[in-house]
Amino acid sequence: MKSNLHIRFLGHNAWFLTIDSARILIDPFLTHSPTAAISADEAEADLILISHGHGDHFGDALAIAKRTGAKIAAIAEIAGYAEKRGAETFAMNLGGGINFPFGRIQMVHALHSSTLPDGAPGGSSAGFLITLNDGRVLYFACDTGLFGDMARLAAQKIEYAFLPIGDVFTMGPDDALEAVKLIRPRVAVPCHYGTWPLIAQDPEMWKKRVEAETETKVQILQPGQVLAEA
Ligand code: NI
Ligand code: MN
Repeated sequence: MKSNLHIRFLGHNAWFLTIDSARILIDPFLTHSPTAAISADEAEADLILISHGHGDHFGDALAIAKRTGAKIAAIAEIAGYAEKRGAETFAMNLGGGINFPFGRIQMVHALHSSTLPDGAPGGSSAGFLITLNDGRVLYFACDTGLFGDMARLAAQKIEYAFLPIGDVFTMGPDDALEAVKLIRPRVAVPCHYGTWPLIAQDPEMWKKRVEAETETKVQILQPGQVLAEA
């Protein structure tokens, strides 16, 4: 049976997913995001995935977790930080996964740094693979540079890959194109661009290049938009 999947882009690298009856927020950077589609007060969640400790990813996680009762899943350093501040957590680490009723979430490598909101080391940065019960696999690269082991993801037959293209802090358009060639997802969705002038990019140009050079289709989402055919 096909899983019931909806994916809404909330701006930057913030995502709201529903998978069957589960509500999942990823990197809820809302209050201080110039492009947030919703306010932190409006956010709903059962589970909040945090890729790393930088403010544009950890964002409003604590406030939302406390208000909604959502559990925060993050690398051990971040989970410890959140737990000390009153949130319930799933502490994870790279390579590890947790099985949920709606599917499996695995924390995977990302090539990036991480500090906690208080400046303490945040452990490694991470991405997430979400495998639905119907077999479809979503890859949230989160903040990362290009790395060769992305090629290993091709074997997973990724349905949707969410890739940063903003440059400066993450892959830019050229490396994100190379990432698509390694990952070979059915659909790629660019993110982490345009939030500030420093990471302004032309997603239409990137889409043209990806679709000219690979079999992957690109969907461009404006903050607030829902992925089509998800
Ligand atoms: Ni970062
Ligand atoms: Mn970032």
